[in-house]
Amino acid sequence: MSEREFGFDTLAIHAGAQPDPATGARATPIYQTTSFVFDDTQHAADLFALRAFGNIYTRIMNPTQAVLEAKVAALEEGTAALAVGSGHAAQLLVFQLLLQPGDEFIAARQLYGGSINQFNHSFKSFGWNVVWADAEDPASFEAALSDKTKAIFIESIANPGGRITDMQAIAKIARKADVPLIVDNTLATPYLCKPLDHGANIVVHSLTKFMGGHGNSMGGVIVDGGNFDWSVGDKYPLLSEPNASYNGMILYETFGNIAFAIAARVLGLRDLGPAISPTNAFNILTGMETLSLRMQRHCDNALKVAEWLAAHDEVAWVNYAGLKDNAHHALHKKYCPKGAGAVFTFGLKGGYDMGVKVVSNVELISHLANVGDTRSLIIHPASTTHSQLSPKQLEQAGATPDVVRLSIGIEDADDIIADLAQAMKA
Ligand SMILES: Cc1ncc(COP(=O)(O)O)c(C=O)c1O
Repeated sequence: MSEREFGFDTLAIHAGAQPDPATGARATPIYQTTSFVFDDTQHAADLFALRAFGNIYTRIMNPTQAVLEAKVAALEEGTAALAVGSGHAAQLLVFQLLLQPGDEFIAARQLYGGSINQFNHSFKSFGWNVVWADAEDPASFEAALSDKTKAIFIESIANPGGRITDMQAIAKIARKADVPLIVDNTLATPYLCKPLDHGANIVVHSLTKFMGGHGNSMGGVIVDGGNFDWSVGDKYPLLSEPNASYNGMILYETFGNIAFAIAARVLGLRDLGPAISPTNAFNILTGMETLSLRMQRHCDNALKVAEWLAAHDEVAWVNYAGLKDNAHHALHKKYCPKGAGAVFTFGLKGGYDMGVKVVSNVELISHLANVGDTRSLIIHPASTTHSQLSPKQLEQAGATPDVVRLSIGIEDADDIIADLAQAMKA
C-alpha cells in the first residue's frame, strides 16, 4: 500500500490485517491451533532465544492475536501491544513486570470495583502495596509518593461514576517522580481519548467492553507507549537487568521502545499464562472494525438518556460528564470532546428502594454485570460490582447505595428512554 498515513476509521478496519498469505481469506482467520511447526532446529532455537520473532505456542503468541495487537497498538498510537485473556490479566502482567515484593504503586480511588479488589487483596498477597489517591485531586498523587513507588494507575473515564480524570496533571507528577503512568482506557476507548497523547506510558484495556463491543468475548490488552526509560534508577530489574531465563539478555537494551510489550509476553504471558483464545481475539478484532460508529452512537444515546433523566421528577441527580452543568464537563471537553462515554450513574428520589425497583422492572435494558455491549445494561453497583467495598470506599468510588449504573447501548434512544419511563412508573 501507499505511504499515506491512514485515519482512525481506516486503521480500525485495516491495521494489522491483510489477506491470509496461505489461502487469500480476506477476513482474519481464526488460527485455532495450540502450536506451530518450526522450519528446522535452528529456526526453533532462534525463536526460543528471542533471536527471531515468530509463532511457537498459542500461550505466548498466535497469528489471530497478533492482528488484534497490531490494531490496538495502531489505534492507541503505541509502539506495540500484547493481548491477553481479560482486562484483569492485563493489569496483573503490567504490575508483575514493575513491582518486587514490598514495592508500592499509587492508584486512583475512582476505579472499577474489581480493580479496587484486585489491588487491595490479591496484589497484597504478592507483596505489592497499593496506596490510594483521589483522582479529583491530582496533588494527592504527589503526596502519596514514596521511595518505594514504582507506578501510578488511573482510569481515563472512571467506572462507575463516569468521572473524567485530569490525566495531564497526574502525568506531570509521574514524570517528575520517574515512574510510569498506567491508564485504563476501557470506558473511553481510543476513539474518544488517547492517553499516550496526555502523558501516559502504558495503556491497558478490558477488551471485553466497548472495544469488542458485542458482549460476547473476554479479552484484555497492554499497550506499550515506548516512551519510558526503563533503566531509570535501577527500579525495573526485569527490564533493565540481565535475565536469567534468556541467557542474560537485557530486554530493554535489546528491544528498546517495545521492551515493555515484549517483556510482558516473554516473561509475564509465558510464565503466568493468561492467554486470549484465538476465537475471542477474532470476535474482538471484528467488533473493533466498527468502533467509531458504535462509540459515537453510544455517546449520542447516552447524552439523550442523561438529559431525559435529568429532567425527570423522580430523579434526584444524574452524573454524566456530557451534561453541561456536570462538574466534569470541562474535563470531558478537554480529554474526550467527541463524547463523554456511555457509562454513567444516577440516583432516584426514592433512594435505594426505588433504585432496586427500577433495576428489577426494566424490560429492554438488561440487568447484568457488564458495560460496553451493543445492548443497554443496568446494575446496582453497591450490591454487586462494588459490594466488597466499605461505605467510605463506596462513596469515594461513586457507588453509594442509591446509585444506579447505566451502560447505554446503540438501540434507538427513544426505546431506551421508554423502557426507563415504564420501569419508573411501575
Ligand atoms: C474499567 C475496567 N477495567 C478493567 C475491567 C476488568 O476487565 P475484565 O472483566 O475483562 O477482566 C473492567 C471490567 O468491568 C472495567 O470496567
